[in-house]
Amino acid sequence: MGAAYVRSFYRYVASSDREILVAERGAEGHPVAAAVLSLEPATLNRRLLLRTPLLMSALGRLPRMLPLLRGAVRGRSVELPAVLPQLILIFTAASERGKGRASALIGELERRLRQHGIPRYEVRTESDPANPALEFYRRRGFEVAGLSVRFGTPFQIFTRAIETRQST
Ligand SMILES: CC(C)(COP(=O)(O)OP(=O)(O)OC[C@H]1O[C@@H](n2cnc3c(N)ncnc32)[C@H](O)[C@@H]1OP(=O)(O)O)[C@@H](O)C(=O)NCCC(=O)NCCS
Repeated sequence: MGAAYVRSFYRYVASSDREILVAERGAEGHPVAAAVLSLEPATLNRRLLLRTPLLMSALGRLPRMLPLLRGAVRGRSVELPAVLPQLILIFTAASERGKGRASALIGELERRLRQHGIPRYEVRTESDPANPALEFYRRRGFEVAGLSVRFGTPFQIFTRAIETRQST
């Protein structure tokens, strides 16, 4: 969506009390991994439309997005609404992968969810056997909770229970 929109997205989620943004910094102090969890995913798109230049960015990129949109309109959607808090994005810079950074982000998000008294959350990732994130979630105790199809692309829904008892 362009660098300006991405900046305003991160500014919004960093200031929102309905989203949790966590990041890992590399040796030079720059963020090398980040994750965003929404406590209210059902309203996030509407809030982004109202509080960021999402619409303007989308309109500005319409010519480039038209082929994607055509595919999207043709593709079937059987989208299950998110009813749990949702991990909406997580990534690690390619050069920093395999060092436990995303695992650390998940640990930090779960610590924050525990403080909110939230017992379970979900994440959706493309249900393509070539997607390494599927194994990443499976190995971290995420449980398969269904399939959601967005514009013809199937997404695996995983949920994970938060251990609420603090270890001593
Ligand atoms: C999925 C992703 C966030 C994992 O980030 P990460 O910081 O590498 O995660 P970790 O280091 O905590 O764990 C990575 C796992 O892959 C293994 N791994 C080893 N080398 C790796 C490498 N070069 N790249 C990625 N993973 C590697 C790790 O050993 C670990 O396996 P484990 O399950 O045995 O612990 C990252 O690969 C990524 O940003 N992918 C692209 C974006 C994406 O798919 N996001 C999820 C969409 S919902």
